[in-house]
Amino acid sequence: RKVGLIGAPFAKGQQPRSGVERGPDLIRAAGLLHRLQELGEEIHDYGNLTFEDIAEDEPVGGVKHVRAVGRANQTLSEAVRAVKMDGRVSVMLGGDHSLAIGSIHGHAAAVGQLAVVWVDAHADINTPLTTPTGNIHGQAMSYLLHELCSKIPTLPNFSWIKPCVSAKDLVYIGLRDLDAAEHYILKLLGVKVFSMTEVDRLGIARVMEETSEYLCARAKKPIHLSYDIDAIDPSVTPATGTPAAGGLTYREGVYITEHLCQTGLLSGVDLVEVNPFRGQTEHAIQSTVSTAVDLLLGCFGRRREGNHPADFILP
Ligand code: ARG
Ligand code: MN
Ligand code: MN
Repeated sequence: RKVGLIGAPFAKGQQPRSGVERGPDLIRAAGLLHRLQELGEEIHDYGNLTFEDIAEDEPVGGVKHVRAVGRANQTLSEAVRAVKMDGRVSVMLGGDHSLAIGSIHGHAAAVGQLAVVWVDAHADINTPLTTPTGNIHGQAMSYLLHELCSKIPTLPNFSWIKPCVSAKDLVYIGLRDLDAAEHYILKLLGVKVFSMTEVDRLGIARVMEETSEYLCARAKKPIHLSYDIDAIDPSVTPATGTPAAGGLTYREGVYITEHLCQTGLLSGVDLVEVNPFRGQTEHAIQSTVSTAVDLLLGCFGRRREGNHPADFILP
C-alpha cells in the first residue's frame, strides 16, 4: 500500500493556541513513519501544512475563528485531494477535529462517494446555530452532510464547501457526550450509532461486524476513518481537550482499526485531538501519543498476533 501523511498543526476549531497543534510532530516523533515502513507500507510524508494567519476573525453568531477554520480546511482539502490523486491512502494528523471538514471533503473530491466511520466520544454534528460552545470542532460533520445543508447559514470562507456525505453512509462509534440538538439530528436523519451503550451490549467485535455490513450493504465505498483520540477512555489517553469518562478501552480502540484494515476499503484516516498541554504528566502525554501511533499502525496492517514480511526467509 501507498500511504501519504499530512500534518495539520491547527487549533482554531477548538481554542486559540491550545496545544493541539503540536499533535502531528509528537506523533511523528514517536516513530510513526519508521514503524509503518516496518509493516511494509510505502509511506510519503508531505510534511506539515502552513495555515494563513487571519488578523480580523471576530465570532460570527457565536461561532469562533470562522474565517481561519474555513481557510485552513480549504488548504487541507486540496492537500488530501492531491494525496488521493497520487494513489495513496491519506493520513491526516491533527490538530483539532474541525479538520475533518477539509480531510473528508478532499477525500470525496478525489474518489467520489465515501463511507465515513467517526470514532469519538462526541458526534461533532452541531450546526452553527445549535453549537453551545462556538467551537467548530464540535460542528465538523454538519457541514459535510447533504441532509443538513439547508440548516447551515452562510459563513465567511466556508462557501467552497460542498456537502459530500449522505447520512446513510455515516457510522458513529464510541459516543457518550452529546448535546440535545446533536442527539435530535442523529435521530432525525436516522444515522447509525454505536454509542458506548451498544459497545457494552454487543461487544466491539459485533459492533464492527455490523458496521461493515451496514456500510457495504448497498455498495463497497471507500472508507474514511475519522478517529478522535478522546473516543478512548481518558485513563489511557488523557492528553486531549474534551475528555469524557467511560470510553473505549485500548483494546477496543485498536480492534476498530484492525477490523477496518481488514475490509481493504480504508482510503483515508484522520487522527485528531492529541493535545500535550492537557496531559498532567509526561507519562500521560506519552500514553496518549503512543496509543495514537498504535491506532494508526492498526489501520495499516499491524496485528497483535504478530506480522512478518511476505518475503521472509527463515535462516
Ligand atoms: N459538543 C461539544 C461542542 O459542540 C463538544 C465537542 C467536542 N468535540 C471534539 N472534537 N473534541 O462544542
Ligand atoms: Mn471528541
Ligand atoms: Mn471529535
